[in-house]
Amino acid sequence: MIEIINETMFHLYNEKISYVMTVLPNQQLGHVYFGPSLGKIEAFDQTYLDQKMNKSAGTVKFFEENNSFTLADRYQELPTYGTSDFREGALTIFEEETPLYTDFQFNHFRTYWGKERDICKPASFAATHESQSIEFELIDTERELRIELTYTIFQHLGTIARKQKVSNMGSEARRIERFMSGVLELKNRDFDWLHLSGAWLKERHIKTTPITQGTMRVGSLKGASGHQHNPFVALKEKNTTNDQGFVYGANLIYSGNFLAQVEMDEWNNLRLMLGIHPEHFSWKLEPGASFETPECIFTFSDLGMNGLSQESARFVEKHIIPPYWQEAKRPIVFNNWEATYFDFDEEKLLALAKESRSLGMECFVLDDGWFGKRNNDRSSLGDWVADPDKFPNGISHFAQKIHSLDLKLGVWFEPEMVSPDSMLYQEHPEWVVKHPYDRVSIGRGQYVLDFANPAVVEAIFQAMEKVIIETKLDYIKWDMNRNITEAYSAYLAENGIAQTEFYHRYMLGVYDLYQKILSAFPTILIEGCAGGGGRYDLGILFYSPQIWPSDDSDAVERLTIQTGTLLGYPMSSFSNHVSASPNHQVGRMTSLMFRQHTAMFGPLGYELDLFSLSRQEKQQIKEHIAFYKQHRRLLTFGTFYQLETSGKQNEVAWAVYDSNQEEALIGVYRVLATANPASEDFLQIPFLDADRVYQVNETPVSGRILKNFGLRKPYQFNAVNHETAQIKGDFQSFVYHIQIAENKE
Ligand code: GLA
Repeated sequence: MIEIINETMFHLYNEKISYVMTVLPNQQLGHVYFGPSLGKIEAFDQTYLDQKMNKSAGTVKFFEENNSFTLADRYQELPTYGTSDFREGALTIFEEETPLYTDFQFNHFRTYWGKERDICKPASFAATHESQSIEFELIDTERELRIELTYTIFQHLGTIARKQKVSNMGSEARRIERFMSGVLELKNRDFDWLHLSGAWLKERHIKTTPITQGTMRVGSLKGASGHQHNPFVALKEKNTTNDQGFVYGANLIYSGNFLAQVEMDEWNNLRLMLGIHPEHFSWKLEPGASFETPECIFTFSDLGMNGLSQESARFVEKHIIPPYWQEAKRPIVFNNWEATYFDFDEEKLLALAKESRSLGMECFVLDDGWFGKRNNDRSSLGDWVADPDKFPNGISHFAQKIHSLDLKLGVWFEPEMVSPDSMLYQEHPEWVVKHPYDRVSIGRGQYVLDFANPAVVEAIFQAMEKVIIETKLDYIKWDMNRNITEAYSAYLAENGIAQTEFYHRYMLGVYDLYQKILSAFPTILIEGCAGGGGRYDLGILFYSPQIWPSDDSDAVERLTIQTGTLLGYPMSSFSNHVSASPNHQVGRMTSLMFRQHTAMFGPLGYELDLFSLSRQEKQQIKEHIAFYKQHRRLLTFGTFYQLETSGKQNEVAWAVYDSNQEEALIGVYRVLATANPASEDFLQIPFLDADRVYQVNETPVSGRILKNFGLRKPYQFNAVNHETAQIKGDFQSFVYHIQIAENKE
C-alpha cells in the first residue's frame, strides 16, 4: 500500500485512492496528489510530478533564499505562516513573545503495518494487515523542534488518517499557538463547500456554498463539537449527484473546540485545514516535551454523495467504533424520558418496562430524574445516588426487577455537570469551571465540572462505578447539556498551567472518564448525547458506538437530520426513537406507521407513553418490532444509500442493502401531499445486480429493470386516481422489501 520512489516521493495507495507526497527543493514536505488511485507510479511519472512541484509561479514576488523557488503556490503538508506563503498556516509557535518562523526539513521516514488501539486517546486503529502507515521525521535544526507526521492508508477504503506530534528539543520553553491536525491542498475543481450545520433540535442539516477567493470556516468555541457546526466537512464538485462526482470529506477525531476551514488563493488553489480551534488555545512546550494533535481523516470518493457516505461509514465502523460493538446486535430500547419526564416512581417505571417487554423491546433506559432530589432540571446533578422517594427499595432492587423481565438496563448520567444544590457542589465548590473574580454564567441551572482536574474525573468515576456495579448495568446514556463559559480551572491555576490549555485538557479528562469506565466494564454500551446531537463526532464514537442525534424526535425533522448525519457517520451510530403524536418538539401529528418507518434505519427505540396507545397501535408496534428484528442486521450495518427522487425537498427515499446485493429495504417518505401529481413515478435502484431476479414485496422483477426503468413508486397519490392511490395525504411512507429470487441463467 505504500510505495517509496527514490526515497523522495511517497505514494500511499490502494484500489480506490492515491495520496502522494514529495520532498520539496527546500527540503520541506510537499503534497502532490490526493484522488483516484494512480496504481503504481513509474520512475518517469515521478520526474513529471516533481517538475510540477518545483516550478515557480511567474507572478510571485517573494522567494525562499533564491529566485527559483517559492512556497506561495506550493502544495505543502505542513504550511507555516511567516514564509513566502502568506496564507494561514497549520502551526504557529512562539518563544516568549518571539514568533519562531519554522523550517521543518525532511530527515527520515519509516513505514509500519497495523495501528494499535489506545483506549486513552480517540484515534483510528487497524489490524496488522488492514493498514500501513508512513511516519516522517521533520526537523527544524535552527529552532530545535521536531515533527513526527504519520499518514495511514487502510485496506479497501478511500480514507487517509493523519496524526502529528511536535517536540521541543531546545533548552527554552515554547508555546504552541496553533496546531491544525490536517492540511489538504488541491486545485479547485469548481467545488462547493459542504458542512453540517444547524442548532439544538435541528442539527446537521446539509449546507453547501460555492467557494470563492478568501476563507470559509465553521467551528466551535463551546467546549464541545456543538449543535451549530460539525467537524465533518466536504468539498464536492458542483454537479455532484447522489452517485457521481468528486467529493473530498474531512473529519476530526475530537469532541472539543474545532475549526474547519477552506482558503482559496488567487490561483484557484484550495487549502483545507482542520484542527483544534486556535482561539483561546495555546500550549506550553517545556524543553523535551511533546504535543500531539487529535487525528484527522481525509476521504475521497468519485461516486458522489453516496460514495462519500459509504466510505465514511465503512471507515468509522471498522476503524473508530469500539471493537466490541462492531457488528454487534444493538438492543431495541424503551426510554422513559418523553413518556414520563421527571414524573415517575419505581412502580410506574416497572409497569412501563413490563409493557415494553410485551411489545418486544429489549432494554429499558431510565432517563433523567432518578437521582438526588431531581424533580426538575435545576437540581442534584453530581449526586449519583437514587432518589429514595422514587426508588423506596433502592436502585439495585429496581435493576433486579428490570433484569427479571428479561430486559437490559440503561441509566442516564450527566457526568460532567453539577447542580448548585447538590452535595457534591457543597463539598467541592472549587471543582466547577468558573472564574474566581468574575460573574459565572449558569446554563440549564447547572455548572460544568472541571474535568481538567484528574481528582474530579476520579471522583465521578467512583460514583458511577458504584451505580454500575449495584445495577449490573448494561447501558449508559451519557448526556452533556450545557456548554462552557468563562473557562477557568482552579486546578490549572494552582499547578501553574495556563488557562489557554483548559479546553483541551477538559476534553482529555472526558476521554479519561470514558477510558476508566470502559476499562472496568468493557461490554457496557454507552450511548453518547449532548442535549441531543451537541457532540456527534468521531471522538465520542471511539467510545460510544451510538449517539442520540437530536432532541427533536419528530419523524419529518429526522429525515433531514439523518440524511445530513449519514454523509459522515454510519447508520449504526444513529439512535432512533419512535415518539408520540403530536410530537413534543414541533407539535406535528404523524401516523405511527410513518414514525416507525423513519425510525428503522439504525438502532431502534421507543420513547412515548405506552399506556396512551390504542390496542391497534400496540399491535402495530409489535409487528414493526418483529419486522425490525428480522431485518436488524441489515438495518444496522447494511450499506446505506440515498436514492434520487423526483420530489426533491418534499420526498426522501432511503435504501439499505447487503454486501452481496441480495437484499434491500427501501423507505420512501413524502412530507406533504401535492395536488395533481404524475400518475406514475419511478425510483431507479442503481445498486442492484442487473443480472439477477429480485422479488419486490413478493412480485418478481429483474435487477436490470429495477436499475434502469426503476421501481414503481407507491402512488398515484391523491386526487386523480383516488381508487388506485396507495397512499394519500401528508406525512406518508412506504417500505419495500427487495430480495433475491433466483440467479438468471
Ligand atoms: C437532554 C437529552 C434528552 C434527555 C434530557 C433529560 O436534553 O438530550 O434526551 O435525556 O436531556 O434531561
